[in-house]
Amino acid sequence: MELTLNEKRLLVTLGPMGSADAAVLAEKMDARREAVVQYAILAADRGLVDVEKHVARRYVPTEEGRAYMEKGLPERQVLESFEESIPMRDLQSHPLAKIAIGWMRKKGWIALRDGVVTKTGATAPGPDETAFARLAERGEIADGEGVADLVKRGLVAEEETVAYTVSLTPRGRELLSLGLDLREEVGTLTREQILSGEWRSLPLRRYDVTKLPKRAYPGKLHPYQRIIDEMRRILFDMGFEEMSGGIVQSSFWNFDALFQPQDHPAREMQDTFFLGERWPLPAGYERVRDMHEHGGGTSSTGWGGTWSAEKAMQCVLRTHTTSLSIQHLAAHPKPPVRAFCVGRVYRREAIDPTHLAEFEQLEGIVMDEDVNLRHLLGFLKEFYAKMGFEKVRFRPGYFPYTEPSVEPEVYVDGLGWVELGGSGIFRQEVTEPFGIEHPVLAWGLGISRVAMLRLGLRDLRQLYRSDVDWVRETPTYGGRR
Ligand code: PHE
Repeated sequence: MELTLNEKRLLVTLGPMGSADAAVLAEKMDARREAVVQYAILAADRGLVDVEKHVARRYVPTEEGRAYMEKGLPERQVLESFEESIPMRDLQSHPLAKIAIGWMRKKGWIALRDGVVTKTGATAPGPDETAFARLAERGEIADGEGVADLVKRGLVAEEETVAYTVSLTPRGRELLSLGLDLREEVGTLTREQILSGEWRSLPLRRYDVTKLPKRAYPGKLHPYQRIIDEMRRILFDMGFEEMSGGIVQSSFWNFDALFQPQDHPAREMQDTFFLGERWPLPAGYERVRDMHEHGGGTSSTGWGGTWSAEKAMQCVLRTHTTSLSIQHLAAHPKPPVRAFCVGRVYRREAIDPTHLAEFEQLEGIVMDEDVNLRHLLGFLKEFYAKMGFEKVRFRPGYFPYTEPSVEPEVYVDGLGWVELGGSGIFRQEVTEPFGIEHPVLAWGLGISRVAMLRLGLRDLRQLYRSDVDWVRETPTYGGRR
């Protein structure tokens, strides 16, 4: 039988006592108690020792309990502060009156008549008080009558202590009597030890090659973040730059600049989280106003009515990342523009396995001379192909800011066609107020769904759970197919 040095030391230490508490052994072996328990469990596997675990419960005072240790429970202190009777009003001036009066009445120690408190005579200590007195004396008590009441009152707290007793078995004793080699084991041989042949007589550490090693969980990125980074990589590879922007946006950038009418249902409470803040409108906002009211300098007739600057200033949690696209274009109205972002958006949705009130979108824009719908479809196809979705199709859609509008769908085995977001070419009503003179291809894709499909999840919520086991067990490959 090959024992580790630690097991041998444990047996030798245990020898004279036969049986000992792990804490005692730890002290004698100059080791941590947990380590000793570990050695003991190994030795127990070989039948050399028995390990017995005892769980003990003890009760110790809480901070409040400690405050009464010296003078006793509040009701006792207050009871002793007056003779036979006392006007309630006077009694109430005692600092502990608030806690004590209720308990004195509950315990039947006092009676109250005409505003005067009188002792009933039945004021002997109950089991709780007796237990409390024992606690005061010893600092800790075992479970017993009255203790539960003290726990309920928050005066004492339960503490669990675990102890281990290790005892030598007859087999262990027999082995010990044969004598054990307590020399340090050698795990690595030196050149000299090999050349001199000394290795023959060294106590070499044995390895059990049939044992599985302990699993190692090195730090790694969250699976969802990995997929997001993969998407970012793809877009960088396709020549895009990354845009960024805040989660809070004014309605102006989230809606108005995108030619969404101010009475559009998507702006209403059921979809949008409105915030109390108001942000000022950017210079040149009048052109957006004019576009809404009558089509500005274009052939559009706009939405008509009066456009409210007040409404446009109100802040929202962005409902789509398209609010960043339009700001990027406003800042870069000259071609070429190729930009993307991945960002969280917020909508007031009923939450279920496939809908959340917050999710991520991958937004992209391409502006250049003469780009058209074929380029848009090409970009989307290319992106999805790189993500591993071979079959992509496009359905006509509607968005207030694009014309034409397209809804891309990918085919997923076992699920069929899955809708993944929206896209289109920005209308002139969107581009003209910002002096953009060339077509803008735009898309906003829901990517949490894509991630869910790629990770084989059935419930979107799993993506956002703090589930370390899931993060550990999800392989880091499984990326591109
Ligand atoms: N913003 C749209 C959405 O959130 C997607 C979209 C973006 C549509 C760009 C067209 C152009 O669903």
